Amino acid sequence: MKKILMCASEGLPYIKSGGLADVIGSLPYALSKLGCDVRVVLPLYKKIAEKFHHRFEFVAEYNVDIAYQSRVVRVLKEEVDSVVFYFIEHQGYFEREGLYGYADDGERFAYFQKAIMELLNQIDFFPDILHSHDWHTGMLPALCKEVHSYDERYAKIKHVYTIHNLAYQGNFSREMLWSCLGLGEHTFENGNVRMYDGISFMKAGIVYADKVTTVSPTYANEILTPQYGEHLNEVLQVRRNDLVGIINGIDESWDTKKDSNIVENYHKVNVFKNKKVNKLTLQEEMGLEKDENVLLVGMVTRLTWQKGIHLVIDNLTHLLNKKIQVVIVGNGEITLEHQLKQFEASYKGQLAFYCGYNEGLAHRVYAASDLFLMPSLFEPCGISQLISMRYGTLPLVRETGGLKDTVQAYNQITQEGTGFSFKHYSASDLLSVFDIAYYTYYERESDWKTLVRNAMRKDVSWDVSAQQYLELYNNI
Ligand code: GLC
Repeated sequence: MKKILMCASEGLPYIKSGGLADVIGSLPYALSKLGCDVRVVLPLYKKIAEKFHHRFEFVAEYNVDIAYQSRVVRVLKEEVDSVVFYFIEHQGYFEREGLYGYADDGERFAYFQKAIMELLNQIDFFPDILHSHDWHTGMLPALCKEVHSYDERYAKIKHVYTIHNLAYQGNFSREMLWSCLGLGEHTFENGNVRMYDGISFMKAGIVYADKVTTVSPTYANEILTPQYGEHLNEVLQVRRNDLVGIINGIDESWDTKKDSNIVENYHKVNVFKNKKVNKLTLQEEMGLEKDENVLLVGMVTRLTWQKGIHLVIDNLTHLLNKKIQVVIVGNGEITLEHQLKQFEASYKGQLAFYCGYNEGLAHRVYAASDLFLMPSLFEPCGISQLISMRYGTLPLVRETGGLKDTVQAYNQITQEGTGFSFKHYSASDLLSVFDIAYYTYYERESDWKTLVRNAMRKDVSWDVSAQQYLELYNNI
């Protein structure tokens, strides 16, 4: 039985700020079903403690050295459906309102990773594969290979490092190398962890892992170029033979037949009738005019430049001249929130904006909408378009990263496709493909229905992807 330890900074159902949490909340179970012994380590944030602490059991208590001090580590755990989750507790570092964005983030996640290294010894669990994700755990392969390699139990571990988003790299001052991580100067001098004058957790992950993965084949190619490479394209080029793209899946919590957040469950046969009921209910909930036939356009997104929200805002006045309604759920950059609030005020009954994240509402938006907008500037994988397809809501996406790999564009001649797509990041290209979608919805009903059925038939589960991870693990 393959022993896997997944290390990450967030994971559902405990805590989520982005798509990484969806992956950490579902991939371990998919691997466990394939016969792996999977364990996961997360920081015990305040929000996790408030909600789940009573369920956890004590595992261990020990010390690690960090920033010239010896700091205590307490570890708690719970087992759910044969996956064990460990939580690293430290009041000073993790009992805060937010997850990231603090001046001492480098020290916090250096602590987290050092605590993980010692945890293996404490619980005597030495995995075959240590699978780390994004910059917060990018130093683990380096710590293992540079600091612990004299110990055979550590030396035998193989490392997989997954990049969910290259834009966030965990770049810190050189001084941290020794003070927080205990790594030798040579790792800076030889460039292994160096990023300009400082150090980069992301780069370290790319350099030291045995295999580097990212979350779609297209993004794996894109990040080799200066346009998408975020200044790491050259080091990624060096590792290109060990770099693979594996698409994410979604789990069974997204199931139109059982979803308890929506008023009318549905499947491929009654989708058209029942979606209308969901539409009317959502219109009522969100203060939109009640009209079961209007084209309802949904977005559930973080409001950041990555997601192409600027393209949408640039086009919004134009779009709202058409016979459509728009519902947007999300939060993020303050100026974008502000702009959307203004649109909502000017287009009452036609545009609704929920500023924040609300899981139940997100489900209702997926179930009620006809079209889902996701015109990302870049998108390592994207999860919303997968959910949309499963919910019979046609995604309109830009052809980048995982969006390109998962959404098949409508072919007007063959009626093939699971959504709509455009290539260049431009407001006018978005508009042209929107017009095709609009026309198809109102004038080509049978094509629209075919696309919806195609989308719902598409396998977006974890089955294939988990198998690909397992093959990767087996081949290191
Ligand atoms: C990040 C990426 C997103 C991806 C997710 C999970 O949030 O931006 O594209 O789906 O990670 O891998």
